[in-house]
Amino acid sequence: MREKGFSTRAVHGGEEPCPVTGAHAVPLYQTSTFVLGRELPPRYVYTRHGNPTQEVLERKVALLEGGEAALATASGMAAILTSLLALAGRGERVACSAAVYGGTYSLARNLLPRLGMEVMMFDPRRREETEGVLRRGAKVLLLETPTNPTLDLVDLREVCELAKERGAKVIVDNTLMTPYYQRPLELGAEVVVHSATKYLCGHGDALGGVVVGEEGFISEARRVLVLTGGAISPFNAWLILRGIKTLPLRMERHSQNALRVAEFLRSHPRVRRVRYPGLPDHPGHELARRQMSGFGGMVSFELEGGREEVYRMMGGLELVKCAVSLGDVSSLIEHPASMTHRALPEEERERLGIGEGLVRLSVGVEDAEDIIEDLEKALDAV
Ligand SMILES: Cc1ncc(COP(=O)(O)O)c(C=O)c1O
Repeated sequence: MREKGFSTRAVHGGEEPCPVTGAHAVPLYQTSTFVLGRELPPRYVYTRHGNPTQEVLERKVALLEGGEAALATASGMAAILTSLLALAGRGERVACSAAVYGGTYSLARNLLPRLGMEVMMFDPRRREETEGVLRRGAKVLLLETPTNPTLDLVDLREVCELAKERGAKVIVDNTLMTPYYQRPLELGAEVVVHSATKYLCGHGDALGGVVVGEEGFISEARRVLVLTGGAISPFNAWLILRGIKTLPLRMERHSQNALRVAEFLRSHPRVRRVRYPGLPDHPGHELARRQMSGFGGMVSFELEGGREEVYRMMGGLELVKCAVSLGDVSSLIEHPASMTHRALPEEERERLGIGEGLVRLSVGVEDAEDIIEDLEKALDAV
């Protein structure tokens, strides 16, 4: 039988009417514990070990990413740490892309070595660096594409093929694109992680994360999560489930708005450079067209000037809010060098192109004309 389309899976996937009451909407099992002795062995014991609302989220995201199974976690960081702990241990080598969310960078740089892992930072946009970390024995590679916040493309098929030749596993953080626009498992990755706080939830009102992969790996990740305590709250799982139902609609709108905003920014004299994979002159545009089915809602741009000009511009915005995070229905803007990526050493930021004039904009689903008008007013006043 033909597999149901993405939007149908986003609405219905992993759900069934409540077997007891027939409730159509997913019930929220807001409970920490379950009364035992009703069935043997008990299906549910304690929410840190599993909860029916969490499980619907897991089934839905596994279906959307095309994975065998999934594990919901308390946040994106919990998803990333859980996957790493399930795949690597003391004395083993992990390679982490330097062009990732600042928290992921810090985790790799500062915490993983304390757990006994040997960490190598690398740039997966350069084939020779990927080959280098694999030659030096990396067992796991962790990366994001498009890169964060510079929005360059990483060739997932190439990285995954190189890793496979050496028996290494690739974890892709798919937060920026979501499975609606990019499915790394189909391109050869073993594991996908998400900050579900972002586009999956979509409304900026819940923290969560998801790990997707093969059944055996997810069972191991679940054992790790039970012991490290990063279970998602049932209420947050419920909010994220509700958000996912409109993911395709929101992603289409984010993407249309982002293209219009990128084109506007390119025409503004205070803007030196715009980075958006949907612009035909973006260096990764052809690769983006091959490995993604849309270009997403993130736009980065460089202002003429530095931090002072960026802060002045952000201070002049009314509709667009200055805040970290992304993937919200509201447009959010931030300065990576002093906010999301401040943990990176200055020379690393420079190497990655995260200059003092760089701004990251998560384009929301408002009317594009209103977002552009707000940006124009703030830019004109710099
Ligand atoms: C790409 C990406 N991955 C992971 C994270 C971490 O997710 P969370 O804040 O849900 O822990 C973030 C942002 O916070 C992010 O932008």
